[in-house]
Amino acid sequence: MVYRAAMRVLKADDAAIAEAGAALRRGEVVAIPTETVYGLGADARNAAAVAAVFASKGRPSFDPLIVHVAREADAWAFVAGGVAAVPAAVRAVCARFWPGPLTAVLPRVPESAGGVVDLATSGLPTVGLRVPAHPVARAVIETMGAATNTVPGVAAPSANPFGGVSPTRAEHVTVPCALVLDGGPCATGVESTVVRATGDGRGLVVLRLGGVPVEALEATLREAGLDGGVTVAKPGEAVASPGMLERHYAPGARVVVVERGEAMEIALERGVMRGLLAYADVDDATRAAFDAVAVLSRVGDEREAAANLFAALRSLDGAGVGVIVAERAPERGLGRAINDRLGRAAAR
Ligand code: TXA
Ligand code: MG
Repeated sequence: MVYRAAMRVLKADDAAIAEAGAALRRGEVVAIPTETVYGLGADARNAAAVAAVFASKGRPSFDPLIVHVAREADAWAFVAGGVAAVPAAVRAVCARFWPGPLTAVLPRVPESAGGVVDLATSGLPTVGLRVPAHPVARAVIETMGAATNTVPGVAAPSANPFGGVSPTRAEHVTVPCALVLDGGPCATGVESTVVRATGDGRGLVVLRLGGVPVEALEATLREAGLDGGVTVAKPGEAVASPGMLERHYAPGARVVVVERGEAMEIALERGVMRGLLAYADVDDATRAAFDAVAVLSRVGDEREAAANLFAALRSLDGAGVGVIVAERAPERGLGRAINDRLGRAAAR
């Protein structure tokens, strides 16, 4: 909150997009809307700018950033060997879900050969690439690259202090930056699904659950005639995605995750204000048992619930509750990403 007064927030109209693109080109850090969460962007080829992103978030330098590009063809410019070297399974899902909440981890062009700076990928030989669906994000990336002869890439983690709740509205961005572009509330609300190919290139490993459900990845591989399947790395186990820390996405309050309908039965410390993060509508007795209640989706729709998740955690935190009792979502579709985030918010 300390930075709010000093921060410039501009509605993302054409003039603001032009200003943001120019600021990025100058090496400044800009918060930009994407369909998943707000990102804290810097020119991925500018080491000082990328360093400023890590500093602003208080993020450890071993945790690599996602590089955002304006279109699919641009992504391959950052991949060693170009599009021909992209494994079939990754090609298939990128073709299907870009622009959208999918990040593909691929071998990268070295910094010395015009790729992204080493710091952006934490020195890994791979780079996470994504084409965001939010038109403002793509326009800003394009504007940054206008009048240059390189393919523009914007390195952007979620625009929250390290370990905290990701921002899904411009007013949730509190980390220092030159400019916040306000593109409205994020439609997806959870971060992108991060994938890499299996060794034979015919299957996928999910390094982070996110906005593209596992079932949708599986269906796409099947349609493409690829039989490698989709496996989900467990938190902590995914060494290939150092950002998959067990405790993350955490509000100030302690989070306790329970099965839906069991919130009332949870024994809680006396004298601590309690908040309920309900997956769907709850009855009056349950509502009355808590000091503050946030409902993710009255009708229990996973997409609506995901879109509301982080704002709901913030509102309960803002209500000053010491404990948030959070109901698990059904373990399907975006419900899996919701449960993943709740699990990490609850980890100590
Ligand atoms: O939806 C999103 O992905 C948002 C928006 C802004 O695009 N970005 C985001 O970035 O969530 P961040 O930095 O909060 O999370 C990036 C995740 C981390 O888990 C990181 O470890 C993983 O992606 N990642 C990035 N590059 C990687 C790489 N080369 N290898 C493995 N994992 C990588
Ligand atoms: Mg993040």
